[in-house]
Amino acid sequence: METLSKLVLRRPDDWHLHLRDGEMLKRVLPATARQFARAIVMPNLRPPVTSVDAAIAYRQRIASALPEGMVFTPLMTAYLTDTISPDELERGHKEGVFTAAKLYPANATTNSAAGVSDLSCITAVLERMQAIDMPLLIHGEVTDADVDIFDREAVFIERHLIPLRRQFPELRVVFEHITTSEAVQYVADGDHRYLAATITPHHLHINRNAMFMGGLRSDFYCLPVVKREQHRQALRKAATSGKNCFFLGTDSAPHPRSGKETSCGCAGIYNAPVALESYATVFEQEGALERLEAFASLHGPSFYGLEVNSGTIILERRCQQVSPSSGGDGIAPSDELVPFHAGEELAWTVAS
Ligand code: NCD
Ligand code: ZN
Repeated sequence: METLSKLVLRRPDDWHLHLRDGEMLKRVLPATARQFARAIVMPNLRPPVTSVDAAIAYRQRIASALPEGMVFTPLMTAYLTDTISPDELERGHKEGVFTAAKLYPANATTNSAAGVSDLSCITAVLERMQAIDMPLLIHGEVTDADVDIFDREAVFIERHLIPLRRQFPELRVVFEHITTSEAVQYVADGDHRYLAATITPHHLHINRNAMFMGGLRSDFYCLPVVKREQHRQALRKAATSGKNCFFLGTDSAPHPRSGKETSCGCAGIYNAPVALESYATVFEQEGALERLEAFASLHGPSFYGLEVNSGTIILERRCQQVSPSSGGDGIAPSDELVPFHAGEELAWTVAS
């Protein structure tokens, strides 16, 4: 087969992103904005984004942090708690502030302590979301200490997702950052008007061995934690299948080196700097480069009922050396971010 020297794609979007706030927001936003036109912005700030006013203010801080000349639209989400009111969600959705709402089971991941303790607490919220056709984005892991961490996603499907979708069959659900063959199967078998999933670059590239290769590798620790090789293979097949229920969501989740390289390190992989190149590498390895555009730029808007972007982006077959860390002027080593693929060579480069 002829080797492509460049790919022209409709401009993609990132359907799952952590932008953080303050100085960190300023540091990480350009990496996303240079590739993606829009992103679903996760609400797990401290304190979390639980009101329309907080989301408007956060959206404004994102706009202010965007460098001159860059164009980027943040799509805001509400952080569901046991007590959030259906009226607040509906108002935010109707006013075009909340694109969706995010369900974190309490204590499932970073900054999720205020999440939902039991799904029965938010029955009225889910009823309302279904009625107004507001998508529910799910971190799909049980938090029970007696469930092995590698099984938490599969158990969540059985215990919570299947009953939830039976109760609310017309609620649009995105099963976020799926990591298992069970999740792939469950989503593939669903009604794709109402069920879809995002897939991250790292879950396509690494399996759980990566976390222990030659020592404890905190840069490969994220939640849901990476799984066995068979699951990575299932995810690669799903992402490159061309099925419209699977689309791009990086889950880029920056933590400073001091938060990662410590005795109790944070979960999260910072993949924004080379996200598209990372996905392109997988699609090429799977012989599916012609399906990258649909995964990155078409399936997401279609599920969310949004227009596809009008611009394009060019991926060139040009080697790049990924920097070992992103520091910069005035940034202490403990505050550096170590990007996914740090120090590796990638065959693709987004043209500037
Ligand atoms: C995310 C973060 O750091 O906010 N971490 C992660 O490992 N993905 C939270 C999340 O999406 O679970
Ligand atoms: Zn996330």
